[in-house]
Amino acid sequence: RIAGPCGMVLFGVTGDLSRKKIMPAIYDLANRGLLPPGFSLVGFARRDWADQDFAQIVHDAVKANARTPFREEVWNQLSEGFRFVPGDFDDDNAFEQLRRTVEELDQLRGTGGNMAFYLAIPPSFFGTVVGQLKEHGLTDHGEDQWRRVVVEKPFGHDLESARELNEILAGVFPSGSIFRIDHYLGKETVQNILAMRFANNMFEPVWNANYVDHVQITMAEDIGIGGRAGYYDGIGAARDVIQNHLLQLMALVAMEEPTAFDAESLRIEKQKVLASATLPPRLDTTTARGQYTAGWAGGEKVIGFLEEEGIKKTSTTETFAAITVHVETRRWAGVPFYLRTGKRLGRRVTEVAVVFKRAPHLPFSQTSTEDLSQNALVIRVQPDEGLTMRFGSKVPGTAMEIRDVNMDFAYGGSFTEASAEAYERLILDVLLGDPPLFPRHEEVELSWKLLDPVIAHWARKGRPEEYDSGTWGPASADKMLARDGRTWRRP
Ligand code: BG6
Repeated sequence: RIAGPCGMVLFGVTGDLSRKKIMPAIYDLANRGLLPPGFSLVGFARRDWADQDFAQIVHDAVKANARTPFREEVWNQLSEGFRFVPGDFDDDNAFEQLRRTVEELDQLRGTGGNMAFYLAIPPSFFGTVVGQLKEHGLTDHGEDQWRRVVVEKPFGHDLESARELNEILAGVFPSGSIFRIDHYLGKETVQNILAMRFANNMFEPVWNANYVDHVQITMAEDIGIGGRAGYYDGIGAARDVIQNHLLQLMALVAMEEPTAFDAESLRIEKQKVLASATLPPRLDTTTARGQYTAGWAGGEKVIGFLEEEGIKKTSTTETFAAITVHVETRRWAGVPFYLRTGKRLGRRVTEVAVVFKRAPHLPFSQTSTEDLSQNALVIRVQPDEGLTMRFGSKVPGTAMEIRDVNMDFAYGGSFTEASAEAYERLILDVLLGDPPLFPRHEEVELSWKLLDPVIAHWARKGRPEEYDSGTWGPASADKMLARDGRTWRRP
């Protein structure tokens, strides 16, 4: 799958995301031969840069963060198609210059009149930028050409603002041309949830309330907020991660088999899960939130959230969030999905653990059910990608002693191909016009609809609970599960 003639205009070239993910991914795609030879990249920002300055920025980003080795000939071919347009988002002259640049590149490099506009900018600017694109004819295209828009989260900060954003985008681009990036869907291990469930026969028969006790979805990070105070303060863990990544993971785990692996069929099934998702009535005991204080991370002393540069000393932003969700369908009746995420936790790990009910009866006299853990299937999303199955096994010896063991599948052990970075996969899909891995606005809105009451509940309660950096979050998160007679996994 190689993209046809096309180019990209990148808004937000000075941001972290562009430098860490988008620019390196573009180079890696070129290096793997997946971009058309005339691929062109136009940077747009309020900077006094010439084309060469922009090329240097991309060069540094590629050198620092690309996955594939640096090859002079690939770089030269690619960077000949780099242009920079300086200007503000409301500057008409700049957008005129952008239009001319796009037309020139089409003549010079043969982009076929196909352009993706990547908005790696705060959503408050989406309206101005897409309005300008339309105003200056940048969204016009011939019948066999395309213009697409790529947006990054946050897709709003609640249901109402998400709807507004969607309306703004839909006012300029048809829905099939809007690509919302949720980079978790670009991860191999996340796509493998569908492969595992629907390409095999042994998981689906037990994938329901008859056998499953509960599901734990964890996205833990050991890093703090780093240099992202401006983005993070006022947003917090629930909006940053649960609304998008974790609810998408939940939808993939809980959904019914789609009729095909295409965008529409996937959307239908994910949307059904999100539409059936509910919160338990008592949010004070079924949710938890926290804010990290000073502590240890990776053997080093680290500062607390309120000491981080750019964070207001009175900030009530949560850096840990956990919620309980029920999916009200026959398949999942009575099975809680526990979702948690946090910064400065014990280690970086993302996993989905499907925890099964205990065996109804044990015929071994010395073994009690309490001695054994529940069977679990753990989808290890990252960093140690694979699957673990936990079950009881006889300990060698004369007694019938049974103990938990793990059976592991590791990607590295079975495949020699390194998995592509999520951004590579997703950017290529944008250029190919292949939408299955991008959430649709219905999913985004349903996720906000579920989360809004939790955030409103927390807002009424004032300061979040504290937890020491390097631990597994606030005590209330443990209480939340203990109340149900369960415990969080310590991955
Ligand atoms: C982003 C969040 O979506 O995901 C960040 O905004 C977080 O706060 C990041 O650090 C984690 O991504 P990954 O791929 O490293 O798990």
